[in-house]
Amino acid sequence: MSTKRKILVTSALPYANGPIHIGHLVEYIQTDIWVRFQKMRGHQCIYVCADDAHGTPIMLRARQEGISPEELIARVAEEHKADFADFNVGFDNYHSTHSDENRAYSTLIYERNRDKGHIAKRTITQAYDPVENMFLPDRFIKGECPKCGAQDQYGDNCEVCGASYSPAELKNPVSAVSGATPVDKESEHYFFKLGDFEDMLKQWTKGGHLQKEVSNKLDEWFEAGLQEWDISRDAPYFGFEIPDHPGKYFYVWLDAPIGYQASFQNLCDRTEGLEFDEFWNKDSDAELYHFIGKDIIYFHALFWPAMLHGADFRTPTAIFSHGFLTVDGQKMSKSRGTFIKARTFLNHLNPEYLRYYFAGKLSSGVEDIDLNLDDFTARINSDLVGKVVNIASRCAGFIKKRFEGKLSDQISEPELLNEFIAAGDSIAERFEKREFSRAVREIMALADRANQYIDEKKPWVIAKEEGQDQALHDVCSMGINLFRILIGYLRPILPATAEKSEAFLQVEPLTWESLKTPLTGHEIAKFKPLMTRIDPKQVEAMVDDSKEDLAKAEAAQAKPTGPLADTPIADTIEFDDFAKVDLRIAKIAKAEHVDGADKLLQLTLDLGGETRNVFAGIKSAYAPEELEGKLTVMVANLAPRKMRFGLSEGMVLAAGPGGKDLFILNPDEGAEPGMKVK
Ligand code: MSP
Ligand code: ZN
Repeated sequence: MSTKRKILVTSALPYANGPIHIGHLVEYIQTDIWVRFQKMRGHQCIYVCADDAHGTPIMLRARQEGISPEELIARVAEEHKADFADFNVGFDNYHSTHSDENRAYSTLIYERNRDKGHIAKRTITQAYDPVENMFLPDRFIKGECPKCGAQDQYGDNCEVCGASYSPAELKNPVSAVSGATPVDKESEHYFFKLGDFEDMLKQWTKGGHLQKEVSNKLDEWFEAGLQEWDISRDAPYFGFEIPDHPGKYFYVWLDAPIGYQASFQNLCDRTEGLEFDEFWNKDSDAELYHFIGKDIIYFHALFWPAMLHGADFRTPTAIFSHGFLTVDGQKMSKSRGTFIKARTFLNHLNPEYLRYYFAGKLSSGVEDIDLNLDDFTARINSDLVGKVVNIASRCAGFIKKRFEGKLSDQISEPELLNEFIAAGDSIAERFEKREFSRAVREIMALADRANQYIDEKKPWVIAKEEGQDQALHDVCSMGINLFRILIGYLRPILPATAEKSEAFLQVEPLTWESLKTPLTGHEIAKFKPLMTRIDPKQVEAMVDDSKEDLAKAEAAQAKPTGPLADTPIADTIEFDDFAKVDLRIAKIAKAEHVDGADKLLQLTLDLGGETRNVFAGIKSAYAPEELEGKLTVMVANLAPRKMRFGLSEGMVLAAGPGGKDLFILNPDEGAEPGMKVK
């Protein structure tokens, strides 16, 4: 075997404010297959990852849940780790960007770049929320589209007409955090001078470190010019304070890729003989690979190599980008039930099914990949259950019953065996180049060949013939040996099934090298089914469950008008607290269905001059037409809340046990919109 390589591999660090879903899993499964393959080849291959724990969305999410960011990221880290472990994603270490190691390396990389003059300081003007006293990232500003006038458009592009613009151009902008009108405010920011690295980057991107499509994309970016990159954020921010600039924080994307180093350092600290420098020094002979999605190429192919270079670290050997997952040809959708969380999948199906299906679709390119749910069921049932597992189950019984579990001392068809062994080189090359779908195709062609062999030899017929014991023994032993090679080739994709097979074969964990030597005169264990067929009902149930997730989320969001009958009376409040509640008569000017929401209606409420947008969970009781023109009572001074469908600026009062019996409170005649309710 060729020399032992030293390889460090990463997947992108998932954000710590949401669950892992099957879209993410494309990446973690792709990386894990590649890593397991390298390990099977006998190389030193280390796979590290971490949660990406910093940034405004995480800070606000924690605030919304009424917990500290530290509590939020600790909880999410446990969920993420459990999801990955259950999908057999075998990280050698899983850390967090909110860690001492990451603070240390972020500081070091910043300081080295600063000392070489690669950091600039400038004053910029940004939108500021005067109520929350915070600067607003683009996605937390909403308003009317400057082109078509559509309401409730976020950030810098309109979902209705598709126009792009700067957030400053939004008409009637409001902060999505407080609902206040943002004001312009100046602040000093620190910039990474990406332009300083233009020559280095141009050389690097041409140096075979990137896929062809990606380096073409980079050419476009070079043409557009390399802009200075704003790496600082003002307080309040959840992140690392910049050491020489109190009150300023590193932007989350500065410390996120440094999290790769931090996670590796954390592993080194616990592992005898593993040295950080051997992998990250400028003259390191180790290989370094980052698996990422195509949406984060700019950060990994431009900022990251430049930051590393500026700080005298080595640059990556290669960046491997993949495309996005679609389900049944469309973007994952909560209302269709195709936004499937890792945990929901696990509640219904064997994780190895998804690993196999993705492997069968993955190439070395950046094209999107589609999970077609019907095709998924068909492929698993025909390939894995029908072809691969079937070979073992067709032969194992005879070996156990007739030959005391022992395989034949001879290989009766050495040519067939050699054909299987020889295919290993080509299959290995496919794995190495991340052409997993081709590897799968070659392995399945071998599986067909093995089944054909058994069909021709008909062991179930030989078994009934007199004096054919040796023939029966040989055929079934061949079958088991062919199965062993197949499961060995599939091992990077199906680690759990491979482990069960190793127990059945009573062998050490299979390596690529070990597959070249067949089992003769070897005792195997009793065969237990390795995998079961998918019943399409399981897939349906998973999709239904994913829809339910949404209904629950809506119910939680629409709590104020939820079924009060089920709710115990809350703790008492003081009169002063009550007096703060500003109850007003409101006229329902407009009531509309909300796309993708089962329980919510969107109400436009007239407060006598002022209108409010409010989402109310009363769809079970009212059709929109019934509501228009009616008067109701609303809490007018409730802080606006950002919901998935838009900003809710108040709350409508309703009462009843729920379902159809939920009554909007109709004030008496004589009430006028805007009137205070006493
Ligand atoms: N936190 C950043 C990455 C920082 S790396 C220093 C981030 N996180 S993420 O949670 O949004 O995404 C993590 C990875 O999953 C990214 O590589 C992203 O491209 C990938 N995917 C997220 N959704 C995906 C699909 N629907 N399909 C395929 N990959 C997807 O980005
Ligand atoms: Zn528009």
